[in-house]
Amino acid sequence: MRKLVAGNWKMNGLAADGVARARDLAARAKAKPPVSEIVLCPPATLLAPVAQAIADSGLALGGQDCHTEAAGAHTGDIGAPMLKDAGCVYVILGHSERRRDHQETDAVVRAKAATAVAAGLCAIVCVGETAAERASGRTEAIVVHQLRGSLPPKLNAATLVVAYEPVWAIGSGRTPTVDDVAAVHARIRAALHDLATQADAVRILYGGSVKPVNARELMAVANVDGLLVGGGSLSTEEFWAIASACD
Ligand code: 13P
Repeated sequence: MRKLVAGNWKMNGLAADGVARARDLAARAKAKPPVSEIVLCPPATLLAPVAQAIADSGLALGGQDCHTEAAGAHTGDIGAPMLKDAGCVYVILGHSERRRDHQETDAVVRAKAATAVAAGLCAIVCVGETAAERASGRTEAIVVHQLRGSLPPKLNAATLVVAYEPVWAIGSGRTPTVDDVAAVHARIRAALHDLATQADAVRILYGGSVKPVNARELMAVANVDGLLVGGGSLSTEEFWAIASACD
């Protein structure tokens, strides 16, 4: 299976710096095509110029969210067909920041994923436990419960990527041990056998404080099929180093 490294820029980037970064990454990808699939997920305002900047580079584009409905009277929201139209192949859904900031439930994430897939996108569905949930020993139960609630039926390796992002690891500089990552990813893989088709081919990403120094070690863990990178994707050097570590 082809590994996947996605850069989630979150609510960061203006045209000047975001497009320059995309151009720089595109030039590097053209000069030395990466073995892994690389996806850039800029804020919605930069989708069009980033799409232009990475055209013919082999890099892919992703959105950071979409509405549960494809179109309609939803001021400020973005529909999955709009992401597709802007050149996206992927969309991140159910990120813990959206679950926190916009009270997104598993049911909402599931509806978004169904709409995204119907629009021809591949859904990157995020799950992960809080620090309190980990401390109480419920990590695997929480993650499986989120997964069951967040996945529409019959997704497959072409329509689904799962991202395990422990909430406490995001932006904190802390990561789980490789043994902890291995345990959760194995549990997710087992759950996917009930929840998706081609379960062994569905890519499971790790996300949360991924840096050039830990990328290789994380990628070596069984069932880690790629990385979802936040802060580390805002620097061309760092993101390229992470992506290269995965090859
Ligand atoms: P950081 O890499 O900044 O910890 O963020 C991870 C993340 O939330 C990616 O979606």
